[in-house]
Amino acid sequence: MSEIRNNTVLSGVQPSGDLHIGNYLGAIKNFVSMQNDYKCFFCIVDLHAITVKQDPKILKKNTLEVAATYIASGIDPKKSIIFNQSSVPAHSELAWIINCVTRMGWLSRMTQFKDKAGKDKENASSGLFIYPNLMAADILIYKATHVPVGNDQKQHLELTRDIAQKFNRDFNCENFFPIPEPIIDKDISRIMSLKDGNQKMSKSDLSEYSRISLLDESDQIIKKIKKAKTADTVMPEKIDDILKLSEVNNLLNIYSGFSGLEKQKLIDQYKGKTFSIFKSDLSDTLVERIKPITSEIKKLMQDKHYLLGILQEGRNKANEVAKKTINDVYDIVGLLRNET
Ligand code: TYM
Repeated sequence: MSEIRNNTVLSGVQPSGDLHIGNYLGAIKNFVSMQNDYKCFFCIVDLHAITVKQDPKILKKNTLEVAATYIASGIDPKKSIIFNQSSVPAHSELAWIINCVTRMGWLSRMTQFKDKAGKDKENASSGLFIYPNLMAADILIYKATHVPVGNDQKQHLELTRDIAQKFNRDFNCENFFPIPEPIIDKDISRIMSLKDGNQKMSKSDLSEYSRISLLDESDQIIKKIKKAKTADTVMPEKIDDILKLSEVNNLLNIYSGFSGLEKQKLIDQYKGKTFSIFKSDLSDTLVERIKPITSEIKKLMQDKHYLLGILQEGRNKANEVAKKTINDVYDIVGLLRNET
C-alpha cells in the first residue's frame, strides 16, 4: 500500500456542457475510488474546452459545474486536489516544450482530431490539432503514474507515453518522466448512445435522448430509458448473443456500472424476460443513484463562493508541484530562467 500511496493520479474533464453517465462511469466513478490510495489531481480542463468555440459566460459556469459534479460524486477536496487547468500556467508552458518533442506524424494519426475536425479540417483550430500535447502536459507536469479515463482517451494516453519516453531519451534524463499507466475499465469505459449502440454517448449529440445527464430529473431519466433502443426479442441468456445486440449490451453495462452487480448476474436475472421489466428496474437504479448527485450539484451551484474557494486551494497546491517540474524541465532543455 505504501508504494501505491507514492503513486500519483491525474485526470481531467472538459467544462463543455452537462456531464453525462458516460463521463461518470468511464471516469469520475474511478476518480472517487482511487482517491484513498493515490495522490490525486483532478483537473477541469478549460484550456482544452476552448479548442472549439465556447461562450465565455457559459464556460465559466460550466467550470464551476464540473467542480460541483466532482464533489457531488464523492471526490473529497480534503483528499484530492481539484483545480482548473488555466489557473496553473505550467500546463501551458510544458505543452509548448512538448509541441517541440511530438512529431507531426504522431499527431496526424489521432482519431479524435479526425472525428472532431470532421470534413472541414482546414477550418479546425490549430489548438484542436495539438490538443493531445496539452493533455500530455497535464499528466506529465505532475509526473502522474496512473490516469483513469474512458476508452476514447486510450490513444491520447499511448501518445503521452511515447512523448515521455522521447523526452527522457532526447534529453538524456532517464526516468525523469514516469511512463503513465491508463486505468480503463473493460465494460463501462465506453458507454454508448441510448439511440445507437455503435455511437459513443456524447455531450455534443444533437438528441437529448441519446444520453442521460447528471442533471436530469427523475422523470426525464425514466422517459429516456423507456425510449432507449433494445431489440425485438427477450433478454438472451448467452453473452455472445448479447454482444450482437449492442444497445442491449450497453444498457447492461450501464446497469452493472450503477448497481455494482456483475453483468452475468444481471443476465441470469433477466434472461427470457421482456425488456420492459429490465428497463423499469434499470430506471429505478439510475434514479436512486443519480438523484443524490443531481441534488448535490444543484445545491453546490448555489454556493459559488465555496466552489471558488475549493478551486483556489486546489490551484495553490497544484502550482507548488507543477512549478517544480517546469523549473526542472527548463533546466534540462537548456532554457535560462534567471530567477532568484
Ligand atoms: P472529456 O471531457 O471528453 O471526458 C471526460 C472523461 O469522460 C470519459 N468519457 C466516457 N467514458 C465512457 N463512455 C463515454 N461515452 C464517455 N465519454 C467521455 C472520457 O474518456 C474522459 O475520461 N481529453 C479529455 C480530458 C483531458 C484529460 C487530460 C483526461 C484533458 N487532459 C489528462 C485525462 C488526463 C477529454 O476530452 O475528456
